[in-house]
Amino acid sequence: MKLEFIKREKLKEKPIDESNLGFGRIFTDHMLLMKRSREKGWFYAAIEPYGDLVLSPAALVLHYAQEVFEGLKAYRSPDGRFLLFRPWDNVKRMTLSAERMSMRAFDADFLLNSLYELIKIEKEWIPKAPGTSLYIRPAYIGIDPYVGIASAEDYYLYIILSPVGAYYAKGLAPVDIYIETEYARSVRGGTGNHKTGANYAISLKASELAHENGFSQVLWLDGRENRYIEEVGSMNIFFKIAGELITPSLGGTILSGITRDSIITLAKDMGVKVAERPISIDELYDAYKKGSLEEAFGSGTACVVSPVGKLVWGGREIIPGDGGMGELTKKFYDTLTGIQLGIIEDKFGWVKEIE
Ligand SMILES: Cc1ncc(COP(=O)(O)O)c(C=O)c1O
Repeated sequence: MKLEFIKREKLKEKPIDESNLGFGRIFTDHMLLMKRSREKGWFYAAIEPYGDLVLSPAALVLHYAQEVFEGLKAYRSPDGRFLLFRPWDNVKRMTLSAERMSMRAFDADFLLNSLYELIKIEKEWIPKAPGTSLYIRPAYIGIDPYVGIASAEDYYLYIILSPVGAYYAKGLAPVDIYIETEYARSVRGGTGNHKTGANYAISLKASELAHENGFSQVLWLDGRENRYIEEVGSMNIFFKIAGELITPSLGGTILSGITRDSIITLAKDMGVKVAERPISIDELYDAYKKGSLEEAFGSGTACVVSPVGKLVWGGREIIPGDGGMGELTKKFYDTLTGIQLGIIEDKFGWVKEIE
């Protein structure tokens, strides 16, 4: 399949005020669109003007949620280079998510190279202000006009781009987290380790309730015993207990975060002891009571690292360290953002420059 380029006739005005970009509401001039049908297989791939998709009201995705997506960012380095962070890992994760959702395979190398082409065309949309970036959203949906329950044969695979503001517009502040004990996000054998929209739809109610009560995110416990810590909203979670960095093991119910993996790699490289293992909420509470819970932070593409100021579990408070940002948390934030922005040496080969 050949990648076409259909140029938008009149380019949009780029946002001038980069302090007000917000998240995910502004889109660039072009998008990547790939199409597959039962009869023709993958038959269309083009970078074309950003615009609405044509979709039947019977499209399978609208009824049975056969959908997967990804989220990554392009950064502009202070010396003016255009950089992506581990994009091949997002494409790989999307391949695995699609396979779990029983969707037809796509050519991962073609998708990755098409992403590079799209960024090359849209690179001037990568904002310049500190902390800003270009959010990249690949999505894959089943679109057969058929309301029977079956795997789709017709698909759209597309990538849209959105310039986004600094996650920490007001500085890297610790957040309060609500430990959810009623609702579950994921169960063993389910789809928790894949990036499919349904996982997010079922977590909205708990998130909204938490927001109403002043919390910024929900920490999920396992869906079986309501005891083991899993992950936070759209982040993986790390604790530093008595000098050791601990993060829940993956085990099929947690998203395999690319930031999580990067932090584990960095920690090992820094000589920090790291454990990926099940950790129960009782163990966390005990550590807090004993005074050995030194730091806690979430990790994800959006925030990179988000320090946790307080966790609330059935009326009990858990405050890591002194409730401020931990030293190691800050070190991970500085190192990872430094690598992403091309300021710190990329010794793990994580950065892809788009020329
Ligand atoms: C549920 C969930 N967990 C964890 C993460 C962090 O993953 P990553 O570091 O790849 O952004 C995300 C964000 O993508 C997420 O949606």
